[in-house]
Amino acid sequence: MAKAWTPSSWQSFPAAQQPEWPDSGALDRALKQISGYPPLVFAGEARSLQTALGHVASGNAFLLQAGDCAESFEDFSAVNIREKLRVILQMAVVLTYSLGVPVVKVGRIAGQFAKPRSSPFERIGDLELPSFRGHIVNAEAPTAAARVPDPDRLVQAYHQSASTLNLVRAFAKGGFADLNRVHAWTQEFVASSPEGRKYEQLAAEIDRALRFMRACGVDTESNSRLHEVDFFTSHEALLLGYEEALTRQDSLTGGWYDCSAHMLWIGERTRNLDGAHIEFLRGVGNPVGCKVGPTTDPEYVLELCQALNPARIPGRLTLISRMGANHVEDKLRPLLRAVRDAGHPVVWACDPMHANTYTAVSGHKTRDFDEICSEIAGFVRAHSAEGTWPGGIHVELTGDDVTECVGGADKILDSQLDDRYQTVCDPRLNGRQSLDLAFRVADLIRTNGLA
Ligand code: TRP
Ligand code: MN
Repeated sequence: MAKAWTPSSWQSFPAAQQPEWPDSGALDRALKQISGYPPLVFAGEARSLQTALGHVASGNAFLLQAGDCAESFEDFSAVNIREKLRVILQMAVVLTYSLGVPVVKVGRIAGQFAKPRSSPFERIGDLELPSFRGHIVNAEAPTAAARVPDPDRLVQAYHQSASTLNLVRAFAKGGFADLNRVHAWTQEFVASSPEGRKYEQLAAEIDRALRFMRACGVDTESNSRLHEVDFFTSHEALLLGYEEALTRQDSLTGGWYDCSAHMLWIGERTRNLDGAHIEFLRGVGNPVGCKVGPTTDPEYVLELCQALNPARIPGRLTLISRMGANHVEDKLRPLLRAVRDAGHPVVWACDPMHANTYTAVSGHKTRDFDEICSEIAGFVRAHSAEGTWPGGIHVELTGDDVTECVGGADKILDSQLDDRYQTVCDPRLNGRQSLDLAFRVADLIRTNGLA
C-alpha cells in the first residue's frame, strides 16, 4: 500500500533535476509568495480536460498537445502568443475535419519554462558553466553570473504564466477562435505555400458546410461551439517546489490539484518509480502524462499505470511515446500490448521530436522533418497492428517563420539553420512545417484504416 500523500510528501523522495539554489532563504521566500498567489487554473477545468482525454482513451477523440520547447522571458509578447495559437488552431481544424472526431487542444504554454539537462555542467569554449535550465531558473548567457539559479525567476514565471493564460483564454473564447475566421489564421508566409493552399481548400469546404447547415435552418449564430474552443495548458512538472506552491485543495471535492496548469507531465529523465516526481503527481487530481522512451519495458509501464492511475480513470494518464524514428514500431508494440491486455485506459500520444534530435554540421541542434513524420508513421502502424488508438501527437512548434528543423516542403537545409534560429532550447517546427504535419498525421491515420 502506498503511504499517505501530501503536497510535500515528494520531499522525502530523491528528486532528480532540481537546481542548486545558492540561497535557500531566498528560495523559501519566493515559494511562500507563490503559495499565497491565486491559482492559475481551477480544479473543475482540469476535470473537464480529463473527461475530454477520456474520450481520447476510448478512441473517440484526438489529442493535439503543442507549443514551445521552453517559453522565454524575453520572447514574451501578445504577437508571439497569438501566432502560436493560430497555428495550433489551424492544425486542430485540419485534424478535426479530416478525422471526424473532436480534437482536444492542449498547449505547452503558460508555464513551460523548466528544462531537465543531460549534464549539470556544460563546456563553452574554455569555460565550464552550470547548464542553462530554463528562464524559470537561470539565463542562457554563457557567463557564470547568468547561470546562477535565481528564485526571483520562479515568481516571474508565475506572473508570465498568468498573463499568457489570460490572453489564451481571451483568444479561445473572445472571437479569435471562431470557425467563421478559419481563413484568418493563415499567416502570410504560409498562405503562398503548398500547405497553405491545401489549407485554404479545406477552409473553403468548412465555409460551405457552415452555409449548408444555415441553409438547412440550423442556427449557427447562437451555437457557441462554433465560435469558441476549449484550450488547455500543460507543462513538464519539473521543479517540484514551484508545483507544490501552486497545489491547492478543491473546495468542491476536497481533492488536491496542481493549479499551475490543467495537465502536467513527467519527463523521460525524472520518471523513476521511486522518485519524487512520481510521488508528487500521483496525488494531484489533474490529468497527468509521462514520457516513455526506448529503454522502457512492459513491466515498468504497468507499474507506472498502477502508480499514477490505480483507479483506472479514463483520461487520467497519457503515455507520451518518444522512441526515435528507427525504433518506434519494435519498441512500442510490446508496451501497447501490455497496457491493452492489462485493461488500463490510457491515452497514447506520440512525441516525434525528442528522440530525433541531433547536432548538425553547422553546430545547431536540429531535427529532420522527414524523421519526425516517420516516427509518427511508425507510431500509427504500431497502433494499427495492436488494435489500439493512436490518440494524439505532442510536438514542439512556433507560429513563426523560424529555421530550426531541417526539411519540410520548403526544404530547409543545414546551411540555412543560422538564418532564423531563435529557440532558447530545442528546435521547433515553424508554421508551415506544423501545418504540413497536421495534414500528414490525418493521412496516416486514415490510410491505416483508423478513421
Ligand atoms: N468548438 C469546436 C472545437 O473546438 C469547433 C471549433 C471552433 C474549432 N473553433 C475551432 C475547431 C478552431 C478547431 C479549431 O472543436
Ligand atoms: Mn524539448
